[in-house]
Order: sequence, then structure tokens, then C-alpha cells
Amino acid sequence: MSREKAICIIGMGYVGATLAVGFASKGVRVYGVEKQQLIVQKLNSGEATFYEEGFDKILSDVTAKKLLTCHNEIPKTDEIDTYIITVGTPVCENNKVNESYLLSAVDELKNNLKPGDAVILRSTLKLGATEKIVKTELDKLNIPYKLSFCPERTVEGKSIEELTTIPQIIGGVDEKSNQHSKELFSIMVDKCIIVSSPKEAELCKLICNTQRDLYFGFANEVASICDNIGASVSNVINAISENYSRVNIARPGLVGGPCLTKDTHILVQGSKEMGYTPEISLQGRITNEKLINECINQIERIMPSPKKISVLGLAFKGSPPTGDMRGSTVYDLMNLLKQKWKNAEYFGYDSLATDEDVATLPLTRVNDIETAFASADLVIFHNNHPDLQKLDIKELSGKMNFGGIVYDFCNMYNTIDSVNYCGLGNMNYLKER
Ligand SMILES: NC(=O)c1ccc[n+]([C@@H]2O[C@H](COP(=O)([O-])OP(=O)(O)OC[C@H]3O[C@@H](n4cnc5c(N)ncnc54)[C@H](O)[C@@H]3O)[C@@H](O)[C@H]2O)c1
Repeated sequence: MSREKAICIIGMGYVGATLAVGFASKGVRVYGVEKQQLIVQKLNSGEATFYEEGFDKILSDVTAKKLLTCHNEIPKTDEIDTYIITVGTPVCENNKVNESYLLSAVDELKNNLKPGDAVILRSTLKLGATEKIVKTELDKLNIPYKLSFCPERTVEGKSIEELTTIPQIIGGVDEKSNQHSKELFSIMVDKCIIVSSPKEAELCKLICNTQRDLYFGFANEVASICDNIGASVSNVINAISENYSRVNIARPGLVGGPCLTKDTHILVQGSKEMGYTPEISLQGRITNEKLINECINQIERIMPSPKKISVLGLAFKGSPPTGDMRGSTVYDLMNLLKQKWKNAEYFGYDSLATDEDVATLPLTRVNDIETAFASADLVIFHNNHPDLQKLDIKELSGKMNFGGIVYDFCNMYNTIDSVNYCGLGNMNYLKER
């Protein structure tokens, strides 16, 4: 389906830039707007601003064809009939959502919106924000416009593929808004699902991530129970999952990243403001947030004074592969390790994270796994990047100092692979030595 008019995407971070290349690769003329000059420069020269499978190739193609151009401000052109907002909505220290980027984007939009134009919100929002914040502001213009909330649900690492395969949920303020968004997203996806209000669409987005957070939270609770009673969470999960489809339990592990660490808090805040406190959802987040501390205490019991500590896999998750360190639990991990063992030497390995991001951690980057293991007292697998999944753990752990420990948050290996290997929910392996 071809489209005469152009779209303008405000905020060219992960969500904005991938969406922009997604639409541009379908022949839609896309104007990207971004405050950070470096991002504008890089994207205009076809250079990827982050690692995402397939992103760099499509980006260089669509920028060469001038289907995507990036700008510091919203271009004044009649060519644009749709504005999509993809700015960040982080949570602050008190777990309340920071809506300042959204508000400033809406402010800039107000100076450019023409009668009949459409505004699509794609940033993750607090329940009710589309109508309470954005609609309230746009109504002040006294012009007809369309407005809908159309959440991003792709997973980092596979977003280019998923942009065209995941159904698009649409929650417009009226029928015209729904139809406009449906026509636009139908260029990319086969299925659009229209819900009855922006609020419902906002809830759809928030519960997707909250459910995932909770899913991991329960598995992590089981892992903590196992560590406490001296059982193996791997044995337990393997046993209950075999030919028994009524159980679906996640593999335990740290839960970080720019979305899962905040979306539960955003759901809870919005729902509470509307009169209902979601307790189960919040408990999943609390369980995931306190996990690292418990694990470090477990490690200390078996390794009281490590001198060389290596952390492998620094991004917020390992699979699908990403170099994204935003919201990575590695920051909490490093803080806690440094509190326990201030004078230890710290090393870190990640095959995708940028030098700039790794430099934000108090450790020395190493570019090969052997160096990370050599003479180490403690090696920690923080994520399960594919690079880390197929190591000869027995041979590598032989390079460590005598009595050294390998602690794996993702339980990628078996107890028999190495005598000094243990992990989250699998501390019993070492106790049995
Ligand atoms: N990262 C994901 O995979 C993902 C998935 C689903 C939903 N989301 C949601 O999408 C939103 C964006 O996430 P992200 O990861 O792309 O964030 P991001 O921080 O990577 O990108 C946001 C970008 O917007 C820019 N920006 C801020 N205000 C601006 C303005 N007024 N004009 C122009 N540019 C402006 C920032 O400089 C930044 O580059 C968030 O609400 C997030 O929760 C993210």
C-alpha cells in the first residue's frame, strides 16, 4: 500500500529509529526528529546508533534513498499528516513516571499541527495519559485532529522482524482516529486490533510487560526457595515441565532493561491514582529488584574475599542479543560488589556493548573470555548472550585461582561441567562438594 503523505516521528531512540526504518522500508516518507545532534548526524549518514539485528542495513538503504531524513526540529511542511511520538518515559527515583519529554514533544507539536492531522502516541504511558495530558493540550488548539495510542510491543534484538509480524493494537479517541492509525499501520502489519479507548490500549501495553516481569518474578522466587532449602531450581523446573503442560515456568534470572524495570511501576502508579492498587504486579517487581542483593550474600558465604572478579555479559539481557545497557542490572550488581569487596580488581566482558557504555561501569573491559577467567577468584555470568552459552566451562574454570567460583545468574551449564560452578537457585551444587 503506498502513501502520498509523509509521517514525522518525534524521538529517534530505539523505538523511533526502528519504527522509522520500518515505515521507510515500505516506501513511506519519514521525517525523524531528535534533540541529540549526534543521533541526527549519524542517522542522516546511514550509521546505526545502536545494535539491532537488521537495523543497520535497512537504515543505510532508506537514508540513501532519502526516504528517511532526520532533523533537530519538526520540519515545517504540508507533506506531513501524521506525527508519532516516541520519546522516553522513564521513571524517577520514587518510581513515578517522568512525563517531561512527552510534555515538551506535545508542546513542539502544538506549533506544527494543521487541521485534520493525526497524532499517534507510541511511548509507554501512564493509564489515562493520552486523554488527560495529550488530548487536553491539543484541544486548546481548537482545530480538528486525530489522536490514538498505538503501543510498541516488539522485543529488543528482534524488533525489525517483529514490527511487521506483531498485531498492532490501536486505541483512538474516536472512529476517525482509529481508522487513520489502522490505515497507516496496515502498511506494515497484517493485523490491527482496535480497542475501545486509548486507556484500554495503554493498559494492553502495560500489562504485557507487567505479566512478563511477574512471570520472571515467580521463577526467581522459586529459585530463592531452592537456595534456601538446598534444592536445585534447574532440577525442579525440568522435573515439573516434562510432559506436564499445565505448568509454564520461566528460567530464573535477573530482570533489567529500559522497559521491564519501569512498566510495572507505571501500571501501579496509574491504577492507584484511579483507585485500585495492583498488589500482585507490584510484588513481582519487588521480588526481581531485591534478587541481586540476596545472590551477592549467597556468593559471599562461599567466596568471602575475592581479589579478581570478572563479570560476563553486561547488557540488560543476553538473548535476543543486544548491546543495550540501559536499565541493566549490571549497575546494581557492580554497586553491591564494590560495597562488599571495595579493593578487588574488576573486569568485564561483553561482545556488543559500546566502549562508551562499558566505561560507565567501575571495571576494566577485556575483549576475550580467557583473560576474564585467568587467575580470577569469582566469575559471574550476568546475562546469557549466545557467546557465553557454549564455553568449555571446565577448561576455563581451570584457569581460575584455586578455589575460585563461577556464579551463573542464568544457569547455562550443568553441575558436572565444573566443580566450582553454581548459580541462582543452584547453590546446592557447591554445598554438595
Ligand atoms: N526500547 C524498547 O524496546 C521499547 C519497547 C516498547 C516501548 N518502549 C517505550 O517507547 C518509548 C521510547 O523508548 P526508547 O527506548 O526509544 O527511548 P530512548 O530514550 O532510546 O529514545 C527517546 C529519544 O527521544 C529523544 N527526545 C526526547 N525528547 C524529544 C523531543 N522533544 N524532540 C525530539 N526528540 C526527543 C531523546 O533524545 C531520545 O533519543 C518509551 O516510553 C519506552 O518505554 C520502548
